[in-house]
Amino acid sequence: MIHATLHQLIVFEATARHGSFTRAAEELSITQPTVSTQMKQLTKSVGLPLFEQIGKRLYLTEAGRSLLVTCQAVLKDLDNFEMAIADIKGIKQGKLRLAAVSTAQYLIPQILGPFCQQYQGVDVSLELTNHQDLETRMINNVDDLYILSEPPQELNLEIQPFLENPLVVIARKDHPLAGQKKIPIKRLQGEPFIMREMGSGIRRAVQQIFLDHGITVSLRLEIGNNEAIKQAIAGGLGISVLSQHVLNLDPPNGEFTILDVEDFPIQRHWYVVYPKDKKLSVIAKTFLDYLL
Ligand code: PGA
Repeated sequence: MIHATLHQLIVFEATARHGSFTRAAEELSITQPTVSTQMKQLTKSVGLPLFEQIGKRLYLTEAGRSLLVTCQAVLKDLDNFEMAIADIKGIKQGKLRLAAVSTAQYLIPQILGPFCQQYQGVDVSLELTNHQDLETRMINNVDDLYILSEPPQELNLEIQPFLENPLVVIARKDHPLAGQKKIPIKRLQGEPFIMREMGSGIRRAVQQIFLDHGITVSLRLEIGNNEAIKQAIAGGLGISVLSQHVLNLDPPNGEFTILDVEDFPIQRHWYVVYPKDKKLSVIAKTFLDYLL
């Protein structure tokens, strides 16, 4: 490996991530023959094939997978080094990798706007997904910070709450229960319902409360996207339980209403978390302070 260059490792990491020479070349703004030459030289230095090609896609060999882990650690360390040097120079500069649960899309961009204005050298990537995916990302140490409502108990995490994230029953404005007060939860029995996908924290919370009260709703549709669920409610397909924040950008007299069902809202929080043994980068620390 003594002859491998840093550039080859960067090209390898991008190729492995995309499973394609062409897409790696596009991302790095170099030509595809340059990528394949660099990979040939790196393969020679390692002494074993790094990829195998099946159809159009490249798959990592065992040696390739092992190199990728090393490569990601080296590149992350270099990123951290660059951030530390910039910090010594009095500049906040570098990459911030955030991953958040779906409903944070209604909040995090508004926080990131002024943050990025204050720290113009910071380059942010924000991955929005559900709780199950986020847990996998934490285990694989993919991001700097995670924003979610149900921190997994089994991981050793640093956890800080920063805002309420209540779950409410959302219906179309003309729903027969709209405007009624203290609706007993039993009235939801048999209601056409739109549910989030497996792996969603909202789905888990909803299933738990219905189970606790012996309620069975009539599952009309399962969708992995809060905005699409809103469209389904607006289309008259049924009601749903979502974070109150999904209505943040809707006008107060818009097409939705929150039903005043007893035992709702389900009170929850958003937490910002990261593995306890993780050394936060300068930029991640700056964002954490800003957020809190
Ligand atoms: P989910 O989480 O995307 O996993 O359902 C959203 C939330 O807890 O607000």
